[in-house]
Amino acid sequence: MTRHLALASAHSNIALIKYWGKSDSARNLPAVPSLSLTLDGLTTTTRVQFDAELSADRVQLDGALVAGREHARVVALLDRVRALRGFELRARVESTNDFPTAAGLASSASGFAALALAASHASGLSLSLEAVSGLARQSSASAARSLFGGFASLPADSEHAHQVAPSTHWDLRLLVAVTEEGRKPLGSTEAMEVTKRESPYYSAWVAHAPELYQEAERAIRERRFDTLGACMEQSTMMMHASMWATRPAIVFFTDATLGVVHRVRALRKEGLPCYFTIDAGPHVKVLVEARHAAALQRELASLVQVKRVIPCAPGPGARLLTDEGASC
Ligand code: PMV
Repeated sequence: MTRHLALASAHSNIALIKYWGKSDSARNLPAVPSLSLTLDGLTTTTRVQFDAELSADRVQLDGALVAGREHARVVALLDRVRALRGFELRARVESTNDFPTAAGLASSASGFAALALAASHASGLSLSLEAVSGLARQSSASAARSLFGGFASLPADSEHAHQVAPSTHWDLRLLVAVTEEGRKPLGSTEAMEVTKRESPYYSAWVAHAPELYQEAERAIRERRFDTLGACMEQSTMMMHASMWATRPAIVFFTDATLGVVHRVRALRKEGLPCYFTIDAGPHVKVLVEARHAAALQRELASLVQVKRVIPCAPGPGARLLTDEGASC
């Protein structure tokens, strides 16, 4: 039996400057530049084994077989690997998340980053990190950034992400305030397409995003926390405002989301420097310098709107955990 096996792990990344909207939907190219922090938590571990005895790709997520659209997205990535490698072998994919899937915690970012790395390696290809990032990007643009540790950038129209600064550059923390458990109602791919098609604010978002990106990238290089925080909040609100202007509006915020946002703004006034960001889900992620993280964690955990807090530090890029059986 032919066996080609690899195991890889990747962490979620949270966009400080958001990606929302595609310049080319078929190629999944982003319309705006984004800038993220890869975390040390929220981990996906994925094992891929190409096997001559399989007649179809078998995909398990957290122990359960997946079908339908989720299965098709995994197969599409495997097909790209097979095309590059020039073989037809089907694969067994087993993936586990140490956090809830598709709940607005960037599971597609860590998931497709780990899958791209494990699948390309298992196939026997030896690709650069940029090329693996490009493979992941075609499945989920945010996943392109999770190949890199620390601060990562995905420029507009770009095929792959790159690192802006390593995780050691700045001792920040991102506290994820989980406001509800369970899957989000609308996926980001569909929500982005509706925003692009229907929102009169979409063009304003695309026009202003590069300027905000530049300011944030400079703030990261110079470690200016308040500037980065202000850029991050504006990017979040501009992205959501573009969604709110569709008919009917796409609203990911809940009462709990807004409750946490108001508290973060109040904490800032009270002298605790912290800033929020919100993705395509109801949770609030709060950025803080490490020295204030414990105080912020206490404040967030005491809120009725917050079910639990996941504290994260800057983390490493995706990595291979084993290197067995690449026998081609
Ligand atoms: O890459 P996708 O399709 O999962 O979209 C990610 C969109 C946001 O998380 C809202 C923003 C971002 O840049 O990660």
